[in-house]
Amino acid sequence: VANERVIPIRAGASHCEAVIAPGLIDRVGTRLAAGLFADRAAIVVDANVAVLHLERVRRSIAGAGGQEPIVVEIPPGEGHKSLATLSAIYDALLAAGIERNTPLLGVGGGMTTDVAGFAAATLLRGLPYFAIPTSLLAMVDAAIGGKTGINHAAGKNLIGAFHQPRAVLVDPEVLATLPARELRSGMAEVIKHYMIRDAEGFARLEARMPEVMRPDPALLAEIIAENIAIKAAVVEADPFERDVRAHLNFGHTFGHALEQASRYALSHGEAVALGMCAAMNAAEELGMIDAGPRERLRRLVAAAGLPTRTDQADPEAALAAMRADKKVVSGRLRFILPERIGSVTIRGDVPPEVVRGALASVCV
Ligand SMILES: NC(=O)c1ccc[n+]([C@@H]2O[C@H](COP(=O)([O-])OP(=O)(O)OC[C@H]3O[C@@H](n4cnc5c(N)ncnc54)[C@H](O)[C@@H]3O)[C@@H](O)[C@H]2O)c1
Ligand SMILES: [Zn+2]
Repeated sequence: VANERVIPIRAGASHCEAVIAPGLIDRVGTRLAAGLFADRAAIVVDANVAVLHLERVRRSIAGAGGQEPIVVEIPPGEGHKSLATLSAIYDALLAAGIERNTPLLGVGGGMTTDVAGFAAATLLRGLPYFAIPTSLLAMVDAAIGGKTGINHAAGKNLIGAFHQPRAVLVDPEVLATLPARELRSGMAEVIKHYMIRDAEGFARLEARMPEVMRPDPALLAEIIAENIAIKAAVVEADPFERDVRAHLNFGHTFGHALEQASRYALSHGEAVALGMCAAMNAAEELGMIDAGPRERLRRLVAAAGLPTRTDQADPEAALAAMRADKKVVSGRLRFILPERIGSVTIRGDVPPEVVRGALASVCV
């Protein structure tokens, strides 16, 4: 199909491709029919997204001659990325008589693609999984790379598995219904991807941010494709997260600490935006970059409508959150810091006063 962008993702032994095209949601049925799967599909979808977009998925499956799919609706929100939700999915799919080759489709934001992917990884020792991400964050980040899982009371994403989808089907048109704050949250990960790997993409985004955030669907399709390619390349280089995949955590060590210190008043994307600003500050203090790149990132973050300073988090509380982080207790804290725009490196030698100063630099 003419307007489809296809990005192969080779991770370990499994083959996956991401397909990005406006209107793709209407072609989900033909894509499944083209595979060698049983003609009855299972769909896990969050209740918000079900109201908005499930009917088109259903119609596309019916249009391709597929049977009425098994549909499991799950309650939306990070709090439901839980064992209880997973258990409800297991119950519904086993009661419906799924088989080893029943394709499971996860339709929703990252919360849904994570929990649906984990259900697919574990049911009958693995069902073919198709991710249909509907938030910008899920399209460029959560649905790419094969990490699936749920939260536990002891922490986020503590239970999970690597399970590559057969395909990630991205229809940028569904972003028309995404709340603006969610779009901005995804944009923080987009900025992160360009910062760690692609200086030219960063410069193009600088020139086009106002149009992108309007939002312009054609521009978004192009940016989503570039970002999937960046994440896919990192994942291919390090499928099981042994080394360079850590670069994807740029802005996240500071960001997670600020997110916790704000008691989640800051969204993940807002916290990552602040965390990237803090990382630039730390890199400047360490003499790795000068003020130029730091200012460029700050301006791009602001142009996306994301915060560059906050009064929602106390820097001392953020420091305490970092210290309480289990990774910190077991070893030295490692930061992903910029060498320039488009390139980052892992540093395990950041002095505590630089960390404190970086956090203070983004707190009012
Ligand atoms: N597996 C990974 O590698 C990975 C990477 C990054 C993030 N994640 C996970 O992703 C999750 C965050 O993803 P998210 O930000 O998409 O959150 P989310 O799935 O909770 O979606 C955010 C909100 O947007 C709504 N929504 C989604 N698509 C919509 C649409 N098209 N129209 C209207 N509303 C829509 C959802 O119902 C929800 O209320 C977290 O659980 C995080 O741990 C996973
Ligand atoms: Zn993130």
